[in-house]
Amino acid sequence: MSGTSSAREHWATRIGLILAMAGNAIGLGNFIRFPAKAAAYGGGAYLIPYFLALILLGIPIMFVEWTLGRYGGLFGHGHLTPMLYIVSKKKLTPKNAALFAIVGGAVAFVTGAMITGYYTNIIGWMSYYAVSSLSGAFQGLEAAKDAEGFLANFLTNPVYNVTAWLVSLLIITIIVSRGIRRGVEIAAKIMMPILFIEGIILVLVSLTIGSPVKPEWSSIQGFEWLWTPRLTKLGDPAAFIEGAGQIFFTLSIGIAGIIPNYASYLRREDDIPLSALTTTSLNEFAEVVMGASIAIPLAYAFGGPELLADVEAGEVSGFGLSVSALPPLFGRLGGIGNIAGFLWFSLLWFAGVTSAIALVNVITSIFEEDFNIVRSKGAWISFIIVFFAGVFVNLEGAFKTEQLTDYLDLADFYAGSLLLMVVALIEVIAVLWLWGVDESYEELHRGAYMTVPKGYWKYVAGGIAPLYLIILLVWFVVTGTQTAAARPDNVFGWIAVGMLILMFILGLIINWNALKRRYGEEFT
Ligand code: PHE
Repeated sequence: MSGTSSAREHWATRIGLILAMAGNAIGLGNFIRFPAKAAAYGGGAYLIPYFLALILLGIPIMFVEWTLGRYGGLFGHGHLTPMLYIVSKKKLTPKNAALFAIVGGAVAFVTGAMITGYYTNIIGWMSYYAVSSLSGAFQGLEAAKDAEGFLANFLTNPVYNVTAWLVSLLIITIIVSRGIRRGVEIAAKIMMPILFIEGIILVLVSLTIGSPVKPEWSSIQGFEWLWTPRLTKLGDPAAFIEGAGQIFFTLSIGIAGIIPNYASYLRREDDIPLSALTTTSLNEFAEVVMGASIAIPLAYAFGGPELLADVEAGEVSGFGLSVSALPPLFGRLGGIGNIAGFLWFSLLWFAGVTSAIALVNVITSIFEEDFNIVRSKGAWISFIIVFFAGVFVNLEGAFKTEQLTDYLDLADFYAGSLLLMVVALIEVIAVLWLWGVDESYEELHRGAYMTVPKGYWKYVAGGIAPLYLIILLVWFVVTGTQTAAARPDNVFGWIAVGMLILMFILGLIINWNALKRRYGEEFT
């Protein structure tokens, strides 16, 4: 096995690997995105398209990403371009394989840079909210309007906004610069237990809080409202799109190749199927059990059925609930509210940071592995890239545009919803079709603690999943591009479009050079 890198880092412990992978998947999506999507697309009934997507797309693609990643790691590769290349040249000519891998890697680079840009900004906002809650700043907020004003004040104040962002981004970069064992793994081992403890406390608070605002609005009724199945909603194909979209986002599949990247630090004989299922289960627990039991019950206690009707109609997003309904509710609860608010926003911070670490790590690995730049420097190059992709979120606030978040909304729409499906499709094609069903199946089972049925691999991962993905993509392009989120409303929206294109070109250049340095003599 020429090219095998013996110097490659590996996870120090299995628990460290599982917590880091779970930290990668468990993010803001679990606690804010999921409950709002469930509320909007049928409550209990939403679980049908959601779990269908988990079984037909989520789990198979999870296996695909782990297998591709561990295999790439054997050759010293941690990012998608060289991984895609080495498996697709088994069927394609080296030239075509290189083209496929460089374009695929560039799309992954766009999702990585753009998502990190806005996601780290939101993480920064969460830190500001956590500190504000602790200092009692929510106590003056009476209504949702006041809370919206509080957010706008923060977003339009460049000092607060930029500081909150850069502090979080610096912490993330420093963790990544320390490497897998000394950085990423230690952070996961500290942050994930804190996250779960905070989550459990918050679930208890949320389900026992009763009716602090109006006697007839009790949080437990909000919980019941959420899970009441509204089957008619399933007549809308959007429920299926949104079920699948949530599975992608929450499991981090298709997002910049961050799962293959973490899997590339496995050893050759480390188990894949059971570990992948374990991290998926942890993510589902954090989403369906914890995520659903906090924001919606609390929102009901604050705003009752009318507020939830707005969530159902899609007029209030999960993020909107978190920043407009929950702070005034916490504000009314006095000292306990200060602490509950701190727990909520710090939980979101930990959830976000452990996901963003994975994103910065994958960008760093390109420089570290293919350009021979030491990791600590590579992490700072990634910092600069993320800075450019994210700074316009701050600038839009500072310029006080009417929308305040047009840049963020566009980046989220294209990179955070659309392009990640493209990346996932490319990975499935590379592994199941170009590498081949039998070879990849064998690789998935090397050192495995359990067996995946061959039919599931061949027909679901290799057939249904890509077909499902193509249908979703077509549908998404046809309907999604009609929505407001897809259209630039102001100059920052246009900057987002420009940045997406720029990052794609940068991704092409970087990946072309990366691949040429390693395999250039084969395809040039
Ligand atoms: N899985 C993450 C979530 O649920 C999504 C994500 C992963 C976002 C990595 C950014 C970085 O929030």
